[in-house]
Amino acid sequence: MRIRRISGDERLTTSFPLQSYAFDRSPTEQAVSRHYREFLPYHSGNHTLVAEENGETLAAVSGIPMQQNVRGSVLPMVGVAGVATHPLARRRGLVRTLLNQLLEELRDDGNPVSVLYPFRSSFYARFGYVTLPQHRSATFAPDGLADLLRADLPGELRWRRIAEGYTDHRALTRRLLDERHGFAMFPEFRAVSLRDDRKWVVTAHVDGEVAGSLTYRIDDHLGELSGDTLLHTGPAGRALLLSFLARHADQVDRVKIGLLPEDTPELWADDFRVETKADVRSLGANAPMGRVLSLDGLDGIAAGPVAITIDVVDDRLLAGRYHLDGTGGTLAVDRGDAPAAASLTAAGLSALVYGVLDPLEITLRGLGTIPTEAAEALRDLFPAQRPYVFAEF
Ligand SMILES: CC(C)(COP(=O)(O)OP(=O)(O)OC[C@H]1O[C@@H](n2cnc3c(N)ncnc32)[C@H](O)[C@@H]1OP(=O)(O)O)[C@@H](O)C(=O)NCCC(=O)NCCS
Repeated sequence: MRIRRISGDERLTTSFPLQSYAFDRSPTEQAVSRHYREFLPYHSGNHTLVAEENGETLAAVSGIPMQQNVRGSVLPMVGVAGVATHPLARRRGLVRTLLNQLLEELRDDGNPVSVLYPFRSSFYARFGYVTLPQHRSATFAPDGLADLLRADLPGELRWRRIAEGYTDHRALTRRLLDERHGFAMFPEFRAVSLRDDRKWVVTAHVDGEVAGSLTYRIDDHLGELSGDTLLHTGPAGRALLLSFLARHADQVDRVKIGLLPEDTPELWADDFRVETKADVRSLGANAPMGRVLSLDGLDGIAAGPVAITIDVVDDRLLAGRYHLDGTGGTLAVDRGDAPAAASLTAAGLSALVYGVLDPLEITLRGLGTIPTEAAEALRDLFPAQRPYVFAEF
């Protein structure tokens, strides 16, 4: 078995057929090759490794060069995707080998963090990933927002095909990337797949800036208006977008949209009958996961005013002793020789950095050994946060 990095047209005959078998419906040969060619440009910048034996591709993994806001700093991030093994070569350790190599290469290329959507979280927990909060969605009948039609809202709406509105939508996601912990953005080569999509986009403009954006489809007359995340920079942009949805009262039966973490739809109007849900029960509806690939690469992110020495254990990428010092207002990372006050697995450390588990929970979950005093220090160094992993386009 040999491992090789592939690129360009090679994808058509190596990684794509495996991914297609794993993730698509069984298609005819002709449909497959047309489909592959259309999607090739959206994969052009991916870092893809394949495992081959006797000229046959047995497994593939890809890293998408993304960006993510981690505690206020925008960092290079690896989005892991296209993980698939030939049905006759599964459970031979091929993906384990490929993924370890991919993460090592991309860590060495300067990516301190990685995010993915798992098919099963326990699989990626073995690779040091920790689960991050699942997105919530809201489902409601649009006439519940009718009051907004009578309100005098500052700003204006623009409604277009995504091909025409793409630049405004992308400008807003760029702004949110700078502002929101966890927010992630695809590279341009991949994000343009949205521009080529057949969705609608409605954007809210306030004081010359894009203050809100919603991409969506309508499945049928009197059916569902199905939106991606209702993106906004605050109440003005959000109210404009909601007033747009209210205008569909006689056109669709219901609206379903994704929510930013602070949005509480039951507060949007009186008598508003809305269901808000974070679904990790339905097949395929899994929460995102994240992991730190390099602690040194986190030097400079925001941190609380304490210092502590920790050991990171059982991890190929991170194992070692680190002195973490937040007394200057940002994190300074050094290799220390002082005795360690706590020991953490990669998943335990990742949970602290993303702010999703308390040190006590990390100990209870077996992701580290953290005595009480060290738990206090780690709580102050990495205050709890609620990351929102936006990984749409
Ligand atoms: C999931 C998949 C990629 C695993 O690939 P693989 O080459 O068989 O995986 P490996 O043999 O390298 O297994 C790595 C580890 O995960 C475990 N594992 C493998 N498949 C697993 C599964 N379905 N559930 C839980 N654990 C699994 C293995 O036991 C091994 O653990 P170990 O190293 O501690 O012994 C492969 O089964 C596949 O292609 N499935 C269909 C597509 C898919 O779901 N891809 C994932 C998208 S996120």
